[in-house]
Amino acid sequence: MTVTEAVLSRRSVRAFLDTPVPMPLIAEILRKASRAPSGGNVQPWKLYVLAGEPLDDFKALMQRRIIECPEGDLPLEYHVYPQPLKAPYRDYRFKNAVDYSTAVGIAREDKAGRQRLFANNYRFFGAPLALFCFIDREMGSPQWSDLGMFLQTVMLLVREAGLDSCAQECWSRYHRTVRDFLKSPEELMLFCGMAIGSGDPDAAANRMQADRAPLEDWCKFVVGETP
Ligand SMILES: Cc1cc2nc3c(=O)[nH]c(=O)nc-3n(C[C@H](O)[C@H](O)[C@H](O)COP(=O)(O)O)c2cc1C
Repeated sequence: MTVTEAVLSRRSVRAFLDTPVPMPLIAEILRKASRAPSGGNVQPWKLYVLAGEPLDDFKALMQRRIIECPEGDLPLEYHVYPQPLKAPYRDYRFKNAVDYSTAVGIAREDKAGRQRLFANNYRFFGAPLALFCFIDREMGSPQWSDLGMFLQTVMLLVREAGLDSCAQECWSRYHRTVRDFLKSPEELMLFCGMAIGSGDPDAAANRMQADRAPLEDWCKFVVGETP
C-alpha cells in the first residue's frame, strides 16, 4: 500500500466486526508510529491499549455511566470545540453530523435516535481494541499538535495492516471515568480515544465518506512565477 492509498482509504469507521486484533501487530504499529515527528523530539504521547476482558469490563462500566451521568465528568478538562464554533467550521461540523445520521437512516428531528447513535462511541463502535492517548498536563498547544501527527501515523499504519480506526474525542467527556479505570497518573490529561479493528463492510454507519472543503477555500499560493 502506498502512502496515498493509506491516506485516501482511511476514514472514520463507526461499526466494527469483533475479529480480534493481534497484540504484537498493535505493538509494532505503535512502535513505528513513534517515528512521527515532534518539536524538539519531546515525544509527548502517552498511550494505553485496552482489549479483551478489561475492554469488556470498561464498556460495561460505560454503559452504566452514560445513563447515570449523561452530562459527563464535570468539570470538563477541555472543550472539544471553541464555544461558539464560528463559520465555516460549524457548517462543516453540522453537515458532517447530518450526513452521518442520514447514512444510518436517522432523521435530524429524531433527537433520541441521534443520542443513541452518539452513544455507540462509548462502546468503541464494537471494536475489539481501543487506545487512549494522554498528554502531560504541563504540555502546550505545540505538543498537542505532536499528538495529532502521532495519531494520524497510527491510523495510516492501521490501514496498511488492513484494519480501520476511529479517533474519539468524545472520551474527554468521561475523562475521570477513563482515568479511574486505567489508574493513570494525575499528571496525565486525556486527549482522546481510538477504536481499532476490522470495519463491518455491511454496516450503514460505514457508508458515509466525509466531505472536504476544496483546496481554494483554505490554501493560498503565494509563489510568483513557477513552472
Ligand atoms: C482527534 C479526533 C477526534 C475525533 N473524535 C470523534 C468522536 O469522538 N466520535 C466520532 O464519531 N468521530 C470522531 N472523530 C472523527 C471525525 O468526525 C472525522 O475524522 C471527520 O468527520 C472526517 O471524517 P473521516 O475521518 O472519515 O475522513 C474524531 C477525529 C479526530 C481527528
